[in-house]
Amino acid sequence: MSVWDCQLVELPRIIDPRGSLSFVEGSRHIPYDIRRVYYLYDVPSAVERGGHAHRNLVQLLIAVAGSFDVVLDDGDSEHTITLNRPYIGLLIPRMIWRVINNFSSGAVCLVLASLPYDEADYYRDYTEFFTAVKLEHEKAMS
Ligand code: TYD
Repeated sequence: MSVWDCQLVELPRIIDPRGSLSFVEGSRHIPYDIRRVYYLYDVPSAVERGGHAHRNLVQLLIAVAGSFDVVLDDGDSEHTITLNRPYIGLLIPRMIWRVINNFSSGAVCLVLASLPYDEADYYRDYTEFFTAVKLEHEKAMS
């Protein structure tokens, strides 16, 4: 996986004088069924979240309120994406290290995940992640 496999997904928007509405259907707007939803809120601006990668999990992140930056790292390249629109999601494949920072006041990061929570799916140590990425790369090349 490369940071360039992370995609911005434009979600449907129903714009109405009563306010706007966006929605996400699993296996339609994103390439997986949604197995879990969680959200980050009340995050102090100086704090970083994330700081991990997943062996198998795929996620869509949406700034449903406010804004934040997502720093993506595939073990080779780093790329930062700012999310600040409730109708734009960031699709993060497996094996991408991500740090989420620069939260604005009142920001809410909604996450639609492809799997239930499983601590064994996490790489929380960057060196361990980096070693696994290199190993996968070598296997793919041989
Ligand atoms: P963590 O994944 O470290 O949060 P972040 O990456 O956003 O900084 O999760 C923080 C804690 O919450 C950790 O103890 C695991 C727990 N947790 C769950 O129990 N279920 C979940 O779905 C998630 C995402 C986290």
